[in-house]
Amino acid sequence: MKNICVIGAGYVGLVTGTCFADLGSRVTVLDIDEAKIAKLQAGGIPIYEPGLEETVRRNVAAGRLSFTTSYPEGLKEAEFVFIAVGTPSGVDGEADLKYVHMAAESIAETMDHPLIIVNKSTVPVGTGDWVADVIRRKQPRPVPFAVVSNPEFLREGSALQDFLNPDRVVLGSLDQEAMEKVAQLHLPLRAPIMTTDLRTAEMIKYASNAFLATRISFINEIANICEQLGADIKEVAAGMGYDKRIGRAFLDAGLGYGGSCFPKDVKALEHMGVIHGCHPQLLRAVMEINRDQRRNVIRVTRELLDGSLRDKVVGLLGLAFKPNTDDMREAPSVEVAHLLRHEGALVRGYDPVAMHVAAKMLPDLILAEDPYDLATGADALIVVTEWNEFKHLALERIKGLMRRPVLIDGRNVYDPARLRRMGFTYSGIGRGYEKNGG
Ligand code: UDX
Ligand code: UDX
Repeated sequence: MKNICVIGAGYVGLVTGTCFADLGSRVTVLDIDEAKIAKLQAGGIPIYEPGLEETVRRNVAAGRLSFTTSYPEGLKEAEFVFIAVGTPSGVDGEADLKYVHMAAESIAETMDHPLIIVNKSTVPVGTGDWVADVIRRKQPRPVPFAVVSNPEFLREGSALQDFLNPDRVVLGSLDQEAMEKVAQLHLPLRAPIMTTDLRTAEMIKYASNAFLATRISFINEIANICEQLGADIKEVAAGMGYDKRIGRAFLDAGLGYGGSCFPKDVKALEHMGVIHGCHPQLLRAVMEINRDQRRNVIRVTRELLDGSLRDKVVGLLGLAFKPNTDDMREAPSVEVAHLLRHEGALVRGYDPVAMHVAAKMLPDLILAEDPYDLATGADALIVVTEWNEFKHLALERIKGLMRRPVLIDGRNVYDPARLRRMGFTYSGIGRGYEKNGG
């Protein structure tokens, strides 16, 4: 049985540790956040991730998974140490590595036997070499170790499924033997395992996320043109998707991307390019288009409310950055709420899962009990997150509860013609029906 320590009990670390335990390894998940570890030790789960609670409980009961705040305890029997701490954006967009630095130094001070250190967190190209230097400098006496890059490709809301059924496993290291051992850990996944050097593995992660973000900004730019020309972006995306070189995934126009990865990873990659003398103008455009999607929806809402948002009651349907998560990091709802309030609107919000997070991140937001409470007295509703439960709302009842039947569909959840037949003043993203007189 392999023995693994995972540092960081966040979305990435907790899922990674739990899944390795589920595959049969003995895993200790370490975090410096004592409250988070205490909650996990008491059987609580600090994040919402479908399937996680049951998988954690099963593996804790089987004695394969435990939690600690202590490095000596976490590293005692470990052969592998995965670093999965946060890598948030710094002031001018670069990835802030202070947590990676803290983890690397704690490992160096504690380790008393050879370790394979695996960078799971998304880190700028070159960080693997830097982590090795940090550890070499901090070790009180030399203890052998190797560094392997193993970037995560987990989508929140489907993280366990993505871990257990990956399209590929990417490994990078200068130490072939260490890389082979990390590859062994992943064999039960029966997925393609690509081995390369450290920097290339680190770049694969950034390039993959930046490409996915580019697709989203691309389809949003096309949607904005469709809006003016009367074409329907959903049909356009469907037509494009038949081309195997394009594919249908990640072509959903809407309020743009959010979350703890795309925004920071595109910014970090642009920053890496700029400080090395490149001109990443495409990445800059990707970020600008994404920012403008939030602003466009404010303009449309203002126009549909007689040109002014002052004293208007606007309800946000959905607050999490995407469905099936409670994560609101860089969620469009945060910027939309701020922009609406900036123009004097009274903003209310509802989310099936993220309400406890919204209460902290948007203290001025008035939280509704459910979509119908949200609709009561509203001058407009904006669909911000495409939760499944919004797809089956009793829309006649919603309309009857609103002060004005104005619905801005930020995620193209509804059929424009159907809503207009029901008497809604409906606006989607790039649905263009108006021009067709639909
Ligand atoms: C983070 C990054 O966002 C992602 O880009 C990267 O690929 C993996 O790490 P996430 O799991 O969402 O993903 O981070 P977060 O939810 O912030 O959890 C990080 C955890 O690390 C926190 O619980 C924090 O307490 C912990 N941590 C931080 C440590 O245990 N030790 C430290 O020194 C610093
Ligand atoms: C992403 C990557 O998919 C994953 O591989 C990486 O490891 C971490 O970042 P995540 O951010 O959890 O995962 O969610 P994802 O499902 O990729 O969506 C990211 C954002 O793009 C969300 O805000 C979503 O609303 C938006 N999105 C996604 C679109 O606007 N349109 C789309 O077609 C797809």
